[in-house]
Amino acid sequence: MKNRITKVLVPFILLITLIFFSFSKGLNEEYITTSAIEPIEIPEDVKAVLDNKCTGCHSNDTKGGKSKMKMNFDKFTNGDYSTGKTISKLGKITKQLNKGKMPPKKFLEKYPDKKLTEEESNLLLNWASEESTILKKE
Ligand code: HEC
Repeated sequence: MKNRITKVLVPFILLITLIFFSFSKGLNEEYITTSAIEPIEIPEDVKAVLDNKCTGCHSNDTKGGKSKMKMNFDKFTNGDYSTGKTISKLGKITKQLNKGKMPPKKFLEKYPDKKLTEEESNLLLNWASEESTILKKE
């Protein structure tokens, strides 16, 4: 009797354990990919425009203010924005640029050379749209 139990029960328990572990491993992997934070890399040409015309108000080095809170380009690359947040911020960049709202008018009155050229604006728009498409596919 005891022998029969061992013969049936032991392999059965082993099988259940095996199934359980492979299942929970699968779940873990799925969890990791969906909640992943993958800092993006900003291409050099885009970064050059941002550094010249945007990060004065939108980076870790900006002193206080609403602008830094609403948009911080450093957080794209240092992992502070989740992937979802990055997608949302990229959408906001597109919105602001299409409306010609950034840099702000008042600032441009003082520093007219900080206005984006059409070429620069298109470069940023293309980047935002392409990066967003890539992130949404991941
Ligand atoms: C002189 C400072 C200044 C500069 C330069 C500037 N911004 Fe802004 N930006 C602001 C301020 C202030 C706000 C907040 C506006 C508000 O919500 O009333 C803002 C808001 C934004 C937002 C909106 C975020 C949201 O949550 O809606 C985006 C996107 C943005 N800026 C992108 C840019 C880009 C791209 C550039 C460069 C082309 C740029 N900004 C240059 C000051 C600046």
